Amino acid sequence: MQTRSTNNVREAARLIQGREIVAFPTETVYGLGANALDEKAVAKIFIAKGRPADNPLIVHIYSEKQLSLLVKKIPNNAKKLMRAFWPGPLTIVLPRKKIIPPNVSAGLSTVGIRMPAHATARKLLQYAHTPIAAPSANTSGKPSPTSWKHVYDDLHGKIPLILKGKNAQHGIESTVIDCSHAQPVLLRPGSITLEQLEKVIGPIQTKISKKSPAASPGMRHKHYSPRARVKIITHPKEIPARSTRCAYIGLEKCARKIVCKHPQNEREYAQQLFAFFRVCDRKNIRVIYAQRVTNKGVGRALMDRLMRAAGKK
Ligand code: TXA
Ligand code: MG
Repeated sequence: MQTRSTNNVREAARLIQGREIVAFPTETVYGLGANALDEKAVAKIFIAKGRPADNPLIVHIYSEKQLSLLVKKIPNNAKKLMRAFWPGPLTIVLPRKKIIPPNVSAGLSTVGIRMPAHATARKLLQYAHTPIAAPSANTSGKPSPTSWKHVYDDLHGKIPLILKGKNAQHGIESTVIDCSHAQPVLLRPGSITLEQLEKVIGPIQTKISKKSPAASPGMRHKHYSPRARVKIITHPKEIPARSTRCAYIGLEKCARKIVCKHPQNEREYAQQLFAFFRVCDRKNIRVIYAQRVTNKGVGRALMDRLMRAAGKK
């Protein structure tokens, strides 16, 4: 299959309506979308990505009106979060209706819903006239794509079309919160921070046992990993002097003449991390040293991605 790229949103929407899959930009990372109500179209996503079938997809919507079609009830906590953070990088897990094919939610009784803020994503949802199921548009296990070229590198020959946009603004995936039970649970930290969420709905559970049914199944799989080994360090001076084919990313400047990235702050660090992983793989780097950050604000999401990339989670 030949993979084309385009700026034409209507063309992408036509493919979605024609049971095809299309990669598209969002404010977090690029997604690989299909009509969320069409089991056969959704199945193509799993094949293209090589995604395990037990990992559910997020359903993207254009307007809150579509919600009543998809979910059984919307608890008050969820309503408050939607009012505060939608459209935006927040996915809310709710009890699903049967109209959602089982492969979208990997057989769970819930579904994750997100209303993206990205203008192109919104147009695609509007023109396609249907909710769109979409995971990140990377090969399963690789870092999520933050530019359309990353999507091309991973999936060319496997998908018909990439809808192009600017590089992703947040660079890490949406925050996922489970509101299907009385006690809300943070399943995946993201750029909407725990502190921001708690300001709106009060205390949120963050410790999830890997066996609990609430655990985000995707978080059990290996994720976000470059080919290089990732080592988390506190300061760049810990990089061994004789280490070769190594690279460094962190807020503290590194004086060594190695492949380096120095983001200005934690938001920038998150935005640049996955692209840096991909650069390192292209340069055949062996070890990536990444400086730790505090577990506060967006630092929580950043540490989560770093720990996973380092195989520590
Ligand atoms: O920012 C994002 O969320 C991007 C863009 C494209 O929207 N999408 C994304 O999708 O990151 P994906 O499939 O790579 O990650 C979805 C995460 C996985 O960890 C999955 O297990 C979890 O959300 N998830 C989805 N539905 C769920 C459900 N019903 N219950 C628990 N976790 C769920
Ligand atoms: Mg993903």
